[in-house]
Amino acid sequence: MPASRLAWAITGSGHYITECLDFLLTLDNVDLFLSQAGEEVLKMYGISLTDLKDKLPVYRDKAASAPPVGLFYTGHYHTLVMAPTTSNTIAKCVVGIADSLITNLYAQAGKCRVASIVYPCDIAPEMETTAPGHKKVMVYPRPIDLEATARIREFPYTQVVDSVDALQTAVLTRLASLS
Ligand SMILES: Cc1cc2nc3c(=O)[nH]c(=O)nc-3n(C[C@H](O)[C@H](O)[C@H](O)COP(=O)(O)O)c2cc1C
Repeated sequence: MPASRLAWAITGSGHYITECLDFLLTLDNVDLFLSQAGEEVLKMYGISLTDLKDKLPVYRDKAASAPPVGLFYTGHYHTLVMAPTTSNTIAKCVVGIADSLITNLYAQAGKCRVASIVYPCDIAPEMETTAPGHKKVMVYPRPIDLEATARIREFPYTQVVDSVDALQTAVLTRLASLS
């Protein structure tokens, strides 16, 4: 049976976190995976975990071995989306570290040759972002952060997007290609 679901990972990046969430909630057949920081940051942006659990399956980072990633080995997921993705998670992914739920998802998706769509928070040397409370602030990703973003672009089975619009297009194109 073909894979039927999309795995969506949210990390602790406030950068466009609410826009990513709003978009994923328009889609069917999505399972949501939260890093520990992702769970905390969502709360800071006023999003309730209880409300989310009423809308879709939610996997939290509670175990060292990341048991839900086994679902990639049973053909459950056709695509992994990581959006938004912190500097921390991108840095770990590009050096092959898989020590949390989300870094494990990316590693196991790669090992299972499942396509990933990744929206890193570090896209440009100077960016405007939204802090909790709808406050706009400037952020200046470091060279090491931008290098990690450049490196993940080279990974197999990985499409990197640079904006919420590009994310939406990439996900909808991927879903259309599967149907
Ligand atoms: C309100 C808030 C917003 C944050 N936004 C970002 C962000 O946009 N990008 C980032 O790399 N880290 C951001 N962080 C820091 C990460 O949450 C932190 O580095 C965390 O350890 C990342 O863990 P994770 O990669 O497992 O989700 C933010 C933290 C807070 C409290």
